[in-house]
Parts: sequence; structure tokens; C-alpha cells
Amino acid sequence: MEKKPRSLVTGAAGFLGSHLVDQLIKADHEVIGLDNETNGSWDNLIQWEKHPRFTKVHQDILEISPLDIHFQNLDYVFHLAGLECPVTSIKNPEVFYTTNVHGTIKVLQAARQSKLKKFVFACSSSVYGQASTPTLETDATIPLTPSGLTKLQAEEAVFHWGDLFEMPATSLRIFNAYGPRSVSRLYPGSVFSLWMKQKAEEMPFTLLGNGSHSRDFIYCTDVANAFYVAALEGKDGESYNVGSGKPLELQELARLLKGKTTALKDRKDEPNKVWADISKFQFDCNWQPRVPIENGIEFSLDVLQEWNRAPLWSPEKLDSFFSTWFEVYS
Ligand SMILES: NC(=O)c1ccc[n+]([C@@H]2O[C@H](COP(=O)([O-])OP(=O)(O)OC[C@H]3O[C@@H](n4cnc5c(N)ncnc54)[C@H](O)[C@@H]3O)[C@@H](O)[C@H]2O)c1
Repeated sequence: MEKKPRSLVTGAAGFLGSHLVDQLIKADHEVIGLDNETNGSWDNLIQWEKHPRFTKVHQDILEISPLDIHFQNLDYVFHLAGLECPVTSIKNPEVFYTTNVHGTIKVLQAARQSKLKKFVFACSSSVYGQASTPTLETDATIPLTPSGLTKLQAEEAVFHWGDLFEMPATSLRIFNAYGPRSVSRLYPGSVFSLWMKQKAEEMPFTLLGNGSHSRDFIYCTDVANAFYVAALEGKDGESYNVGSGKPLELQELARLLKGKTTALKDRKDEPNKVWADISKFQFDCNWQPRVPIENGIEFSLDVLQEWNRAPLWSPEKLDSFFSTWFEVYS
């Protein structure tokens, strides 16, 4: 019988990790999903709980030993476990450093036990900071916060390990992913996840400034597919932007989500426009975003009750949370 590809996904219980597990199981992989529910929830993978090709491992990446048995005989490692929140990372940089950098090294060390076909890392557009747009992978990486800095350092570690130990590695710089399961318990999360909870509570959406900021929203299954094609086609040592390639103003997002807005003080020094140039990934891996924003929002609104499990961030709570940002960027 032909051996099935064996993949390990860290951060599997999270938003993007769980969509990637869906994609890999459907592609006939044997999948090991590792997470410690810092922010994710195994409920996101309840559909595969009893599946013969899925194994759940409840573990902190910081406690992975170089001889961890789950990292043996693998074909692919997808490393998505990590922390991402600019404001919390200013407040508590050491936790971000430990999880994102040291945690990545733990995963890389354990992965050396297998002769991998590919190690794929979940990096972030936050590595660019204030970039020119549309942003290319060759543009300068000047992160604004420890969140972005530690993702950049982790990406460097991934490529360094790749060279040193002949481990083919590719990194995806993800822009603003959205969709079902984008539920954050640790921190406010993305604007999309924050607003979905506010919508579920029939509250107005908290908007920074006048809503003319734009972000590059990419639907979760398109990101899952990006990981999949990067594993098969991504070039070693290369980073790829993963976005829709189209910026969307936040006031337009509010309109699509059919909600009213309430203004919060603008966070100056944040990028006004986030917009990915995705041509490198399209060219190298033949990847295309498939889900138009209108459809992605419709699929998300269909499962609005998912956001019941997220904490509510009221305007008052957010004002106090963002005060950390204003202490640094006045
Ligand atoms: N969602 C986005 O728009 C976006 C954008 C850029 C980059 N990313 C990156 O993609 C990855 C996945 O993001 P997401 O949106 O799914 O976030 P998420 O928080 O839903 O998923 C991350 C998962 O990692 C797990 N985790 C955290 N610390 C851990 C630890 N010490 N040990 C084991 N598991 C741990 C969490 O429990 C969570 O399930 C992250 O690395 C993030 O930085 C996401």
C-alpha cells in the first residue's frame, strides 16, 4: 500500500491551523495536530476527533524535546503556533520572544529527526512595519512592535536551520486573514474577529479614526491552501506574501458586515494602508486567492454564533488596552 504523506501542524487548534488540518485531511495526509490551547480550542477540530488519520497532541511548543516522537517520520511540518498582537507584545515582549523565537527553535530542533520535504512557517505582514504599497517581499523589514520583530527573527531562524541542516523551508508572510473560527480569547485579535463579537452582541463596531485605514483581507481557506501549495511548490529559503492583493477600507468592511461604527482615537504610526503584492507567490506556486470578500463575509455571518465564546471588547476596555500603544507612539 502506498504510504500517505505525514504532516505535523503546530497551532492546529487555532484559527488558521484548524483550516489547514481540514485541507490536509481532505488531501489524504496523516495529520498530527499539536497545540496547548493558549488561544485556540480543540473544538475547532471536533470534526476530525475520531478520524483514523488525525492525532491530537496537547503540548506546549516550549516543552518539545529534540527527540519528541511526534516529529519522527514526517514529510511536512507546518509551524503556526505563535502569538500575534502588537499592543500586547509592547506590554509583555518576553512572552512573545519566548513563544515565537525560542518556540520556533524547539520545533525546528525536533523536526531535524525527519527528512522533511518541507518546513512551512507562518510569518506575518507585521515584519514590514510602515511599508510602501503594494508591498513586495524584497521591501525593507522594519517591524513596529515586538510582535512583528519576533516573527521576523523566527523566520530568520527557520531559514538558518534550513541551510544548516538541509531542511527545505519556506515562509508565508500572512496579511489579514479572516473567516470562521477567527475567535481570539487572549487578546482583541484582528479587527475582523473583534467586530464579529461586537456584531454578535449587537454593538457598534469600534473604528480607529475615520475608517479610511485599509487592510488586505484574505479568506481562511485561501490561507490554508497557501500552506498546502507552499509545501509542494514553495522554493527553499523564500518568503511569500499571502494576501488578496486588494486593499479594503475598514469603513467598507463595516458596510459589508452591515453594522454601525463608533470612533476610537486613531492609532497614529500604524500603517494606513496594508496591501500585499502577491505576484511572487502566484508565479512560483501558481496560488490564487479564490474567495471574494463578499462570499467570505457571508460564510462568516452564517456562523456568527461562533463568536459567543470570544470575550467582548467594549470601547472603554479597548481605550484602556490601547493606552499602551499611546505610551510608546504618542
Ligand atoms: N490570522 C492572521 O491574520 C495572521 C496574520 C499573520 C500571521 N499569522 C500567524 O499565523 C499563525 C496562526 O495564526 P491564527 O490567526 O490562527 O492564530 P491563533 O491564535 O488562532 O492560532 C495560534 C495557535 O497557536 C497556539 N499556541 C500559542 N502558543 C502556543 C504554545 N506555546 N504551544 C502550543 N501552541 C501554542 C494557540 O493556542 C493557537 O491555537 C500565527 O503564528 C500567527 O502569527 C496570522
